[in-house]
Amino acid sequence: MDNRAIGIFDSGLGGLTAVRELRTLLPEENIVYFADTARMPYGARPAEMLRRMARQDLDFVASKGVKCILAACGTVSSTAPDVLRAYPVRTFDVLSSAVREAVQGEEGPIGVIATAASISSGAFQSALRAARPDAEVVAVPCPAFVPLIESGRCDEGDEALAEALAAYLGPIRDSGAKTLILGCTHYGLIADPIRRFLGDHVRLVEASACAARELAAYLRRSGLCGGSGEEQFYTSGRAEDFSALSALFLGCDRPERVEHVEEMEA
Ligand code: DGL
Repeated sequence: MDNRAIGIFDSGLGGLTAVRELRTLLPEENIVYFADTARMPYGARPAEMLRRMARQDLDFVASKGVKCILAACGTVSSTAPDVLRAYPVRTFDVLSSAVREAVQGEEGPIGVIATAASISSGAFQSALRAARPDAEVVAVPCPAFVPLIESGRCDEGDEALAEALAAYLGPIRDSGAKTLILGCTHYGLIADPIRRFLGDHVRLVEASACAARELAAYLRRSGLCGGSGEEQFYTSGRAEDFSALSALFLGCDRPERVEHVEEMEA
């Protein structure tokens, strides 16, 4: 039994998809969440900078005395996997578990959508090919999604979102892929519009949900579960904005414990 919190970080709201999943699996866990909103979007930044930022995010979350850390960010998971692995606190990424789950599906092309930095790193593509050498991978960067999601525009009735869905998911639909990895944790917040666009025959593999399941299994297996269901949120953006949007996404009352922290220098 270990009552220390689980640490989770992302550039913004995306990692809340992992919080949502963890709440279902292990409601008693304490959670410390850091949303680096001031430096969002991560997906437009160069890899070297992202690796420095990953270290800073890990240090911030670790300073809260957590028992493990989930990098609930596809961009960090793709560009800084060695930084995560070498960290002295046990870390989890959102790439490996999603790839494992994706290759268990039907044969045929596998789609992956993620940020520009994640796709250009090639990390999802090479992990998929390592797991299934004959896999045809259709990888599409979707830079417009994160800013839309962060401004609360998550309904396909929104014109800009509808346009972005058509532009990014058209090639996935045309490829005949039956499996699509949502390789950016933000995309879980628009899973319904994505599903409606592609149809139910396409299986969506949500990277953050896969990682949350993996983390929960690890805690159970290692006898490290424990806590009293407390949540503490930190954001480098405006606390009120995070509070309002996170309530919407978590489907609960506004979280009480949201604290602003100074923006770190990248
Ligand atoms: N949610 C993050 C990811 O999974 C970062 C998105 C961004 O800030 O560009 O990639």
